[in-house]
This record gives sequence, structure tokens and C-alpha cells, in this order.
Amino acid sequence: MANSRTNEPDVASFAEILRAGGIVAFPTETVYGLGADATNSDAVLRIYETKGRPRFNPLIVHVADLAMARRLVDFSPLAEKLAGFWPGPLTLVLPRRVDSGLSDLVTAGLDTVGIRIPDHPLALALIRATGRPLAAPSANPSGRLSPTSAAQVKAALRDVPLLDGGPSQSGVESTILAIAGGGVTQLRAGALPRDEIEHALGRPIAVAEEGGPVTAPGMLASHYAPRASLRLNATTARPGETLLGFGSITGSLNLSPSADLREAARNLFAMLHELDTRATKIAVAPIPRDGLGEAINDRLKRAAAPR
Ligand code: TXA
Ligand code: MG
Repeated sequence: MANSRTNEPDVASFAEILRAGGIVAFPTETVYGLGADATNSDAVLRIYETKGRPRFNPLIVHVADLAMARRLVDFSPLAEKLAGFWPGPLTLVLPRRVDSGLSDLVTAGLDTVGIRIPDHPLALALIRATGRPLAAPSANPSGRLSPTSAAQVKAALRDVPLLDGGPSQSGVESTILAIAGGGVTQLRAGALPRDEIEHALGRPIAVAEEGGPVTAPGMLASHYAPRASLRLNATTARPGETLLGFGSITGSLNLSPSADLREAARNLFAMLHELDTRATKIAVAPIPRDGLGEAINDRLKRAAAPR
């Protein structure tokens, strides 16, 4: 849908679909989201059905500004400080207000809400035009690779109205932080590197352990998976494998020939999607673990996990 005079995407008509309880795929700075009015349970149910997503896995709520966020969750002084990263690729898990009006399906029965302000003009315009908080997981079938382009969304979710915003800027999902009892725990490494958050807070933050007590319910061992098998930290391709390179390790595709982690994050899902169409065995070059490398290695580990 585009406005015939300006050729701008017609945000108002997508907002209309959302207000009527429909679902819409839309761009964010991280990956494309599959959105619904977070206050409408029938609409939210459509997300779970379309993705084939387990119902115990709560959804991130997207808002346009802090005023909208304050109507849904309670902010501690620590949360206020972390909200300084908004708009941006940071999701904060905060206590849900009793009068939030959010559907219980969004939080999967938890008394907390994962919430963020996305840094994308079309996403913000869509939320504003809808006038509702939007629940949105990544716009992919559950367990599969997250989409970083409109073409990938179209291929996976053909019948869903799609607001095209071009390729995603950062290419991996938001960093998720739980804030409880004065402490901060990173539940998911993501597009905002942990060292930047630690720098802003002036202290280190905890990292949720695999199988530990504080986790994001959606952090399944096997996730973000291509159809092909994946072997990590490969310096050469074995017979039958296609190599995804990084830096000086050149493969059939290279995440970043100049070994730039931002470029690698942006290319990660798109290149895995691409190799998945022509290979059954993918080998991936080693990626440094610092900065954005934490999120990239996390996604690769889950993509490579036994299914
Ligand atoms: O960048 C992103 O975060 C993208 C874009 C679309 O915003 N969204 C995204 O959503 O990655 P999704 O549904 O694929 O991942 C959401 C994660 C899940 O692991 C879920 O368990 C966790 O957030 N989550 C949501 N609400 C939570 C809560 N109240 N407590 C703990 N974890 C929560
Ligand atoms: Mg996802």
C-alpha cells in the first residue's frame, strides 16, 4: 500500500488495520516485527497463530514515547536511566501496571512487560497513527531466522500486510534487560552491546545463565535456525559445506571482509537466509566475542544447536 501521489508508504491504512484488530508486519531498526494492538487479545492471538509461537512466550510491547510507556509499566530510577537509550535496540522488562490495559496474552501471564521505543521513523509513525501500544515479535515463523528485509517477510508470511521500510539497520534483535531489586540482568544479548550499557551505568551487569532462574521464556536452546546444519568457528569448509566468512577468512559470502562487527550483525540473518536457499551444510568463520560479537555469537550458537 502506497500513497499514489507521494509514493510514501501509507501508514494510516496500516494503522486502520491494526485498530480493527488485524496484524501488520513493520520495520524496526533491529529486525521486522509482526505487530498487533497489545490491548486486544483477539489481535494478539493472531500473532501467536501466524507465527506458530508457544503461548508461554511473552511478546515485546512497542511504544512511541516515554509517556506511553509510563501508562503501561512502572519506572524505577534505574529504569529511567536505562530508558536514556530509547529510542533504540534495548528492551526493558519492567513491572506491569495493574491499569495497563494490556492483554494477558502479551505478557503470557507474567507480572512484567518487555517494552521498548524502536528507533525507526515508520515504526514510530505507525504506533502514533494507531494510538495503541503494539505487541510485536520478530516477523518470522517461530524458531526460524528473523527477517531483516521486506522480501524475507513476504517469503515467510505471504498473507500479512507488510509496511516496507527497506533493510534493517542493525540486523540483530534488541538487547533485553531485566530490572529487579536494584539489579540489572541481561536476558538476551542484542543490538545494544553490553559494554555500552555498563559504561552508561558505571558498573558491570549480570548475564542470565542458560537454564538459570532469571530468563526470557523465549530463549530456547535451538532458535533463529536455518534449515541447513551449522558448524561454528570454522576456518575452512569441509567437503559438502559452504563457508560463511568473516574478515580474512573468505567464504562463499563474507559477513564483513573488513572484520567490522556492525556490518556482520547487519548481514548475519540475510546471509544465513541466502545460504539456506543453496546449501544444506553451512560452516561459519569465528567471530570475536567483544561488543556486538556477543549477540552475533549467541544467535549462531542457537542456530547451530541440535533440534
Ligand atoms: O528487536 C527486537 O526485540 C524485535 C523487534 C521486532 O522489536 N522483537 C523480538 O521479539 O525479537 P521476539 O518475540 O522475537 O523476542 C522477544 C523476547 C522473547 O525471548 C521473550 O521471551 C522475551 O523477549 N520477553 C518478552 N517479555 C518478557 C518478559 N516480561 N519477561 C521476560 N522476557 C520477556
Ligand atoms: Mg524472534
